[in-house]
Amino acid sequence: MPIQYSEELRLFRLATPNTAYFFHVNEGGFLVHDYYGKTLPICDLRYLSARAHKASFSPQSADLTTTPETAPVEYSCNGTGDYRISALQIREVRGNASTDIRYVSHKIYPGKPALKGQPATYGTEDETTTLEVLTRDDVTGAEVTLYYTVFEQYDAIARHATVTNTSDYEMNLERVYSLCCELPFGDWELCHLYGSWAKERQFERKELPHGITAVESKRGSSSHHHNPFAALVKKNTTEDAGDAYGFNLVYSGNFSIQVEQDYDGDLRLLMGINPTDFGWKLEPGESFETPEAVSVYSAEGLGGMSRTFHKLYRNNLCRGPWKNAKRPLLINNWEGTYFNFNEEKIYNIAKQAGELGVEMLVLDDGWFGARNHDKAGLGDWFVNEEKIKGGLPLLSQRIHDLGMKFGLWFEPEMINPDSDLYRAHPDWCLQVENRPLSIGRTQYVLDMSRKDVRDYLFDCMDKILKTTQIEYIKWDFNRNLTEVASFLLEPCRQKEIFHRYVLGLYELLDRLLTAYPDLLLEGCSGGGGRFDPAMLYYSPQIWTSDDTDAMERLTIQYGTSLCYPTSSISSHVSVCPNHQTKRTTPLKTRGDVALAGSFGYELDVTKMSDEEKEEVKGQIAEYHKYYELIHFGDLYRVIPPNESECAWVYVSEDKSEALLTFVCVRFRVQSRRAVCFRGLDPEKIYADEEGKVLPGSAWMNGGVNNVKSMQDGTSFKIHLTEVK
Ligand code: DGJ
Repeated sequence: MPIQYSEELRLFRLATPNTAYFFHVNEGGFLVHDYYGKTLPICDLRYLSARAHKASFSPQSADLTTTPETAPVEYSCNGTGDYRISALQIREVRGNASTDIRYVSHKIYPGKPALKGQPATYGTEDETTTLEVLTRDDVTGAEVTLYYTVFEQYDAIARHATVTNTSDYEMNLERVYSLCCELPFGDWELCHLYGSWAKERQFERKELPHGITAVESKRGSSSHHHNPFAALVKKNTTEDAGDAYGFNLVYSGNFSIQVEQDYDGDLRLLMGINPTDFGWKLEPGESFETPEAVSVYSAEGLGGMSRTFHKLYRNNLCRGPWKNAKRPLLINNWEGTYFNFNEEKIYNIAKQAGELGVEMLVLDDGWFGARNHDKAGLGDWFVNEEKIKGGLPLLSQRIHDLGMKFGLWFEPEMINPDSDLYRAHPDWCLQVENRPLSIGRTQYVLDMSRKDVRDYLFDCMDKILKTTQIEYIKWDFNRNLTEVASFLLEPCRQKEIFHRYVLGLYELLDRLLTAYPDLLLEGCSGGGGRFDPAMLYYSPQIWTSDDTDAMERLTIQYGTSLCYPTSSISSHVSVCPNHQTKRTTPLKTRGDVALAGSFGYELDVTKMSDEEKEEVKGQIAEYHKYYELIHFGDLYRVIPPNESECAWVYVSEDKSEALLTFVCVRFRVQSRRAVCFRGLDPEKIYADEEGKVLPGSAWMNGGVNNVKSMQDGTSFKIHLTEVK
C-alpha cells in the first residue's frame, strides 16, 4: 500500500520502494510531520514530533494543542506563533497576514492529477498514488490543499499545493511555497549548484549554519547562477552511502529554496516560487496552484539520489515521442560560423557532416530579419533571403535530400529595439512607464503574460513550420528580466507578472508541441541558464553551457548530473583552441566528454583535416555503440572532477555491460595508479575489449591501472561486457 491512513492514530504513511514519509493530524487539526527516510512499516511514530514548549516566548496555539515555534509541520504558516520560515502567508482583506490552517478531510486515489497550465511529473494509475489533504483557515476562508504523489517504482514524492479563496472578499497571497520538509537534528550539510554564464551548475557542499540559508533566483528564470535543486546530506554521506535528501522544483522562473536550522538543530526546508517580487490576488472563488516540487531520499548517498532523479525524469517527466527515442546526432553551426554564413556554407557543412555520419543540421542564430549581428532582428521571425537564398523550405529540402534532418534556432521571448516588431509594437516588451529600459545583449524581453504577444510568436513559428520541414527547434533565451511590468494588468496585479510570464511561456511551448507533437525541442538560455525540470518537460534535452571546453565541461556536466539525466545534457565537440578558454584538448578527449550527454558537433566540419574526419567517424561509431548504455544506464560518478582527474561509469540496468571514462586533467607524478568500476554485479564475470576477464568484484575493487600512462588532457574508456 503506497499510501496508508490509520483512522485510530490519524496518521498517514506514504511509501516508495525504499522510503517512508509519516505525518499525523493532532487534536487541534494541525498537520504534524513525524518522519522521512528509510522505509518503515506503519506504526505510531507520533512521538517523534514531540518538541518542548520552551517559554512564553514560544507561544502556544489558542487551543493549546501545539507550540507552532517548535512543532514540525507539513506546511508552515505565518503570523500565528511559528517564527521560522513560512510556506504560506496570506494577507486577508483586513490587512493582516496571520494564517493558520487545520485539517478538514483527505482523499487517497490511484494516479496523479495534472497541474493546470504547468509542467509536472506524471504517472498512470499503476505507477502512482496520490494523497490530497484539504485544510482550512476558518478566519479567512482560505482553503489549502496539499498534494503528495508517490511513485511505485522510484523513491520520489511529488508535491504541490493549491489555495482557494472561499470567502466573500479578496485575499492576497504573499508566499505560497510548493514544499515544506522538516528533518530532525543531525550533522546536516547543504549541497547546491551555483554558477554563471559558461560556468553553470558548480557543485558546492557546505555545513549548514544555524539560521536561514537561501538559494534563490529573482532573474525571471531559474538561471545560470543558482539551480532549483538542493540536497540535504549528513556529514558522513558520500557518493555511494549515507542519507541524501534531494529536492528539485519543476519551475523555470523566480524560485526560492530556504533552509532554516533552528536553535535545536532541527531543519526546515522550503521550496517554491520566490516570494520576492511575487504576489497573487485571489478574488472570491478563485484558486492558485503552486508549481510542483519533487523530493527524493536515498540511503545510497548522492549517487543513489541522482540515479532516482534520472530515471524519474526520463520516464515520468520528459514526454512525447522523443523522451526515450534515439535522438538525432546533430551538428550546430554556431561556433562554426556565428553570424557569418549563407545557405551554401550551411549546406556544405551539412553535406560534409552527413558524409561522416551526422544525422541533423541545426541552423543557429542569424537566419532571420536583419540579424547579421546580435544588435538587430529579434522578433522578426521571417527568413533573411539575402543570407538564405531560396528561403528555408529550399535549404531544408536540400538537407533532407542528403538524408539528414533539419533544425532551427529561435529566441521567441526576446525583441531587439532595432526590429520591425519593436517599431510596430513598442508596448509589447516588459517595461515601466517613464523608466528607461535596461538592456541585455542589445535586447528587451517580450511580455509573455500577454496573449497577443504569444499569438504573434505562435503564428510566426507556425508559418515557418507549416512550410518548411523542421524536426527540431532550439529555444534560446539570452537575458534576464528587468523593469517587470505589463501594460495590460491593473496596478494591484503587477506583482503577478513574473509568474504570469512563466505561465505564458509554458502555454506557448504547449501550444507549439500540441500543434507539432513530433518536434524535438532543445532548451537553451545562453548555454544552460534555464536548465530545470520544467523545461525538461517540454524539451528532453537542454544546451548545457556555452562553454564547450572539455575540461570545463567536466565540472559543468558533473554538477548537472546531480539531478538531471545524461540524455538531457546536450554536449558538443567543438574546435580547438576552444573559443571560450583558448585551451587545446585532444579531439579524443573532447569526444569522450561529449559522449556523456546528448552528443553532437559544433564546428565547421569543412575545415577539419582528413585525419580529424576519420576520428570523427570513429566517435560516431562509438556514439551508436554506447547510446543505450549511456542514455538508459545508471551513472556512477567515480571521481568527481578535480584539478587532476575525473572518472565516471555507466552500467546497464541488467548489469551486463559497463563503460568507464577517465579523464586526466593534469598529470601528476604522484598520482593514483588505478581507477575502479562501480555498480557492477560482484558475482558476474566481465571481459574488457582486450580480453581481460575478471569478476565484477575485481573490476570494482582492484580496478584498471592504465592511469599512470596518461598526459594532461587525455582520456580513456574501458568497456566491459558480461561473459556468460
Ligand atoms: C546562446 C546559445 O547558448 C548559443 O548556443 C547560441 O545559440 C547563441 N545564443 C546564439 O545567439
